[in-house]
Amino acid sequence: MNEISILENPETTITVAKKQMYIESYGCAMNFSDSEIIGSIMAESGYEYTNDEFGADVIFLNTCAIRDNAEQKIRDRLKHLRHNKKKNSDLIIGVLGCMAERLKTKLLEEEKLVDIVAGPDSYRDLPKLVAEVEDGSKAINVLLSREETYAEISPLRLNTNGVSAFISIMRGCDNMCSFCVVPFTRGRERSRSAESIVQEARQLSESGYKEITLLGQNVDSYLWFGGGPKIDFKKADVAQQENAVNFAQLLEMVAIVDPNMRVRFSTSHPKDISDDVIYTMLKYDNICNYIHLPAQSGNSRVLEAMNRTYTREWYISKVERIRELIPECGISCDIISGFCTETEEEHKDTLTLIEECKFLFSYMYKYSERPGTLAAKKMTDDVSEEEKSRRLSEIIVVQNRVSLENNEKLVGKTMMVLADGVSKKSDNDLTGRNEQNMKVIFPKEYYKIGDFVKVKIERVTTISLIGVTVIN
Ligand code: SAH
Ligand code: SF4
Ligand code: F3S
Repeated sequence: MNEISILENPETTITVAKKQMYIESYGCAMNFSDSEIIGSIMAESGYEYTNDEFGADVIFLNTCAIRDNAEQKIRDRLKHLRHNKKKNSDLIIGVLGCMAERLKTKLLEEEKLVDIVAGPDSYRDLPKLVAEVEDGSKAINVLLSREETYAEISPLRLNTNGVSAFISIMRGCDNMCSFCVVPFTRGRERSRSAESIVQEARQLSESGYKEITLLGQNVDSYLWFGGGPKIDFKKADVAQQENAVNFAQLLEMVAIVDPNMRVRFSTSHPKDISDDVIYTMLKYDNICNYIHLPAQSGNSRVLEAMNRTYTREWYISKVERIRELIPECGISCDIISGFCTETEEEHKDTLTLIEECKFLFSYMYKYSERPGTLAAKKMTDDVSEEEKSRRLSEIIVVQNRVSLENNEKLVGKTMMVLADGVSKKSDNDLTGRNEQNMKVIFPKEYYKIGDFVKVKIERVTTISLIGVTVIN
């Protein structure tokens, strides 16, 4: 435990020991962003963040429940934490986030090591839950809220490179894709006040950040009505409706905060991304020409079973529209292999979708049935594990080929890269991202992390572009 000394007068020194918290994050960017809110709430009640899990008084695992293997990872991690508890019997272990919300009290019954179970909307309650455990009981809060957005909480930036930061602009999801557990673990969709988002962007710019990413499960349905985070727009009064801020407007408000700070956003649902959003991207140079646009499948019947509310053709027309307005826009995707009843022919439609849309890259997964979802209740998980794996590896092969072909076209091109780290392979090289979110590696020379660097690409792999710096 670290100690701080408060010098009251030259003779007396009072030593106050600050309790230490250690937070480990799993899952999506929203969870990582939540960990910074958790850090801030705990810091307010006197905790200090540590990177040393063995020196911690409290360990929080901020968990994900999206696929079975995500939960398995947490169970394995909990087994390891036995060692920590052996070394420090007062250690408090909390499981937070989506797995906590999904399993609720079951988690306390199944995992004896766990002291606290807290869902995504209960983080303000964490200091109280910790105090309950200190008093000798287990503690749980898994209530979901229709209003909580942690709007005014200034996140404690954890493990930051001081260059890129996330800003949560909304919580929850109302979409009910039949495979997905998120609506159950994160509750109803609600938007955070536009003013608090702009304020956070301003603070980040003033602290020297060079890139922000606006986060939500479905950012294009962001809607803030002046008065408060109401769920139903129709129930808002006229003044509220007139003052409403949609995603395109929010994007503009954030883009003008600092023209030298890059703005990104994720995730876009193909059914909701509007021309207005694309026009706003066009209008501001600092909004990166990159859209993460998960398709999930390339077959219309499967998409319908997934309740994605669009067809293959509709998806492709969206991609074409984006490229018509912003030809250099990078588009990436999420894909699921072997969803309930998917046939071989339908799987092949996913392969051709990747080729047709030329995704820069994709996050690719085997379908994992999640208890409580529509698919788990109404459909049969009838594609075998072997078949899911085979289809997934075919998807990966096609995506890798498409990625390499896309990247090869960039050889000889010059692009602006935001340096965000040192290359793992050589201290003489820096890594960074171009506008399209592709990894670029280049010689360090006199550049440092946080610099915008002009790089000319000389060679490429499926996942990175390698180049030399060019004087501006
Ligand atoms: N809100 C985002 C996705 C959030 S979850 C969207 O709508 O696109 C991230 C990704 O996990 C999803 O895009 C999907 O590809 C994958 N995923 C979600 N549930 C899954 C499941 N049950 N099995 C396998 N992959 C899943
Ligand atoms: Fe899940 Fe669909 Fe919501 Fe994305 S849009 S979080 S996939 S329910
Ligand atoms: Fe996982 Fe929850 Fe994100 S289930 S993907 S951490 S919203």
